[in-house]
Amino acid sequence: MRAAYLIRHGRAEEAFELRDVDVPRCGKHQVLIQVESFGLNFADVMARLGHYRDAPPLPALLGYDVVGRIESVGNAITHLNVGDRVTALTRFGGYAEYALAQGAAAQKIPEDMAPGIAVALATQYCTAYYMAHDIANFQRGDKVLIHAAAGGVGTALVQMALNAGCTIYGTCSSTNKVKYLKAQGVHHTINYMTSDFAEEIERLEGKKKLDTVFDPIGGKSARKGFRLLQAGGKLICYGVSSMNKTRTIFGKLKVLYDFGVYHPVQLLLGAKGITGVNMLKLADENPVKITRSMRGVIKLNVEHKLEPVVGGTFGIEELSKAHAFLESRHSIGKIVVKW
Ligand SMILES: NC(=O)c1ccc[n+]([C@@H]2O[C@H](COP(=O)([O-])OP(=O)(O)OC[C@H]3O[C@@H](n4cnc5c(N)ncnc54)[C@H](OP(=O)(O)O)[C@@H]3O)[C@@H](O)[C@H]2O)c1
Repeated sequence: MRAAYLIRHGRAEEAFELRDVDVPRCGKHQVLIQVESFGLNFADVMARLGHYRDAPPLPALLGYDVVGRIESVGNAITHLNVGDRVTALTRFGGYAEYALAQGAAAQKIPEDMAPGIAVALATQYCTAYYMAHDIANFQRGDKVLIHAAAGGVGTALVQMALNAGCTIYGTCSSTNKVKYLKAQGVHHTINYMTSDFAEEIERLEGKKKLDTVFDPIGGKSARKGFRLLQAGGKLICYGVSSMNKTRTIFGKLKVLYDFGVYHPVQLLLGAKGITGVNMLKLADENPVKITRSMRGVIKLNVEHKLEPVVGGTFGIEELSKAHAFLESRHSIGKIVVKW
């Protein structure tokens, strides 16, 4: 089979090489999928740049989500059969013509579901669903701040918060994305390149008024988000995209320092919470949460209550271009690559 290996950290143009390798063998709890398309996630960009601790060593086969047809099924799997069309979270290995997934992280989808929708539902919508349902537990009227709201996870969170009747503050980095967020129904859009999001929210709402802050940026952004929470509020940290601006160890330490230091008693007295999210860890140690999230988002999509936005479809020969596009901050929604 063909597989697109990351052979070098750095610029997208020089990072990948198509190789012919053996098709992987399916373990007892796994399925083997013949891949139609795979999705890109921001963690792939972090891995390419060498900023992602959990990524496999070079040469590495990246890839967190695929859509395709089941080629073989492990003995322990009962909910899937050969020939089923599925969307799946892969633990790396997605940039290939055949990919393995844990059975718990592969779910059947309608035959006519577009590939971009299917891969968006896997990692990005599952991450958003887990955060919105298991952690934030949205209530009607909640005030929520969603950073990088025009991205893949951001768009998913916006749709889930709107469905729950929340008031949304959505941040992004360009006027084009502001337009997109307004069209998605975001109540208050903030371009955080031209204004300070915390000052803007305090101007509109007053101090300490938010119920949930979703932060994939980290550092100072997370610290400022925590300060905006009212009693009962939660800061959900699920990424450190600001890390990709720095090349030095001191820069990285500065980002970590900028998060701030929090003592449990401080959380207790303020009646606030901070939760970290790592879907790989969940898949390893608590896969039932992944299964529940996947089934949840597929059902809601079939019922037209969640509609992923596909912001770009590329052929395999354009993988570098797709990566550079996601890195550029110009992308909106999901980026998908087809074989
Ligand atoms: N913890 C988990 O298990 C988990 C799972 C999935 C995703 N994530 C995280 O969720 C975030 C969104 O992932 P995604 O795949 O949906 O990507 P995405 O949001 O479609 O793309 C990343 C976006 O991050 C924003 N951004 C902020 N600071 C940035 C910087 N310094 N450099 C580049 N972009 C920056 C950009 O939006 P603006 O230009 O509008 O700022 C960019 O478009 C990422 O941080 C990712 O690591 C975490």
